[in-house]
Amino acid sequence: IKKNGLEEIKQAENSNHINDVRVKLLGKKGSITEVLRGMRDLSAEERPKVGSFANKIRDELTEAITKKHEELEEKKLAKRLASETLDVTLPATEVKLGTPHVLVQVIDEIEKLFLGMGFQVVDGPEVEEDHYNFEMLNLPADHPARDMQDTFYITKQLLMRTQTSPVQARTMEVHDFAQGPLKMISPGKVYRRDTDDATHSHQFHQIEGLVIDKNITMGDLKGTLELIAKKVFGAEREIRLRPSYFPFTEPSVEVDVSCFKCGGAGCYVCKNSGWIEVLGAGMVHPNVLKMAGIDPEVYGGFAFGLGPDRFAMLKYGVDDIREFYLNDVRFLEQFSQKG
Ligand code: PHE
Repeated sequence: IKKNGLEEIKQAENSNHINDVRVKLLGKKGSITEVLRGMRDLSAEERPKVGSFANKIRDELTEAITKKHEELEEKKLAKRLASETLDVTLPATEVKLGTPHVLVQVIDEIEKLFLGMGFQVVDGPEVEEDHYNFEMLNLPADHPARDMQDTFYITKQLLMRTQTSPVQARTMEVHDFAQGPLKMISPGKVYRRDTDDATHSHQFHQIEGLVIDKNITMGDLKGTLELIAKKVFGAEREIRLRPSYFPFTEPSVEVDVSCFKCGGAGCYVCKNSGWIEVLGAGMVHPNVLKMAGIDPEVYGGFAFGLGPDRFAMLKYGVDDIREFYLNDVRFLEQFSQKG
């Protein structure tokens, strides 16, 4: 039994094997157990001899099994450690950090400029009431100028805002002039029922601007916008105002920036006229002030609506507005702020 037992223990290749061997030798029906059990048939003199002999063998086998078991466990551990080795000198996989979207970058830049001039940044809802998107801006239900803005209606009274101008109306309504003049901008998404092409997108961005105080003139409007144009497009930029029409401003203007040829930072394609239109603006219409509870005899101001998409296209020479909304990483990575 001992010889065979030790041999089997030696042969065992894993802890399952060794367990089988243990059961076979020392278990309830194991060979050693059987010998010990058979002792009741022996004579009184034989019993202690056979007993101590069998016990000795049982102890030896037990020890051999324990040793082998430990050996196997050690081997198993060594194998696992070897397979899980980590080479700490390997170069790490690059962690890809995102970058703010180019439109976000342009909006941030413009926001900072206005914050520096003491404007506050105000938010407004994208799902807007007809009341604020049109009525309060001097555009009653039957006004023909509503056609200028192809509107996504949700219900008769609710719509996707077509402009950020409703934030003007909302802010004017609650402003307390005892706290000082009203100077705000409001960046955000706007929606129009347009067919997408290189220059149209059914969703784009605007930054609304509004200043209301005593003695505000068109000169203030021009000075403010000129400063923004020079900061965003370069110090050599000039602006010009052309007469236009918006129901909520009088007079209304279209603002152009002077062109420069492509090449280098801030490149954009020049139109033949040498000017390129960048925003709409004007002096706030007295009706709009009155509706918001502001006395037009005392207060006046200017407003403008600037398109960050347009600004970004001109600033970086992007020729298709849809690029901003396709989320093609190859396009977006060009505006990475890394390094
Ligand atoms: N809301 C106008 C538009 O979307 C732009 C604008 C804003 C014009 C403020 C004048 C004053 O076309």
